[in-house]
Amino acid sequence: MIPIPAELSAYRDITLTVNGRDHRVRVEPRTLLVDAIRDLVGLTGTHIGCDSTSCGACTVLLDDRPAKSCTVLAVQAEGSRVRTVESLAEPGVLHPLQRAFEDEFAFQCGYCTAGMLMSGLALYERDAPPGPDEIRRALVGNLCRCTGYEPIVAAIAKAIGDRASRPEDAEVRR
Ligand code: FES
Ligand code: FES
Repeated sequence: MIPIPAELSAYRDITLTVNGRDHRVRVEPRTLLVDAIRDLVGLTGTHIGCDSTSCGACTVLLDDRPAKSCTVLAVQAEGSRVRTVESLAEPGVLHPLQRAFEDEFAFQCGYCTAGMLMSGLALYERDAPPGPDEIRRALVGNLCRCTGYEPIVAAIAKAIGDRASRPEDAEVRR
């Protein structure tokens, strides 16, 4: 076993701001953000698929931009606003993106869905609505083994289209 240098094994107390709430957590310098979110903050909607920056199941928003949380150290996220899939729905009320995923059958096993929703959220919140090709490009880092992607692209496009026509859906929670 390769010995861990002392400076990499010391614990640190940091504050992670997740979905608008501050969480004081104790992490190692090598602790991944996804592990801190799931194991220390207790929000398990963010999934781990590959743990190696390939699948996008762990995608969260970091200061409003999609980030693969298996590729970010928890200590690097201190001072940033982290948003996870749990930020989307209010009790009993789905976010328009979630409604669109349901309407368009944009999930089957659901393993990729949290990451897809968060990548979709970054698109949904853009001032200039992206078209289908831009949506496809934005999802290049999110893999789905079930749906063939078209329903996911359709769902995101539907939510963005509905947002333009329903002012109440333009209300975003950050
Ligand atoms: S678990 Fe992070 S990209 Fe796959
Ligand atoms: S719904 Fe199964 S991996 Fe996407």
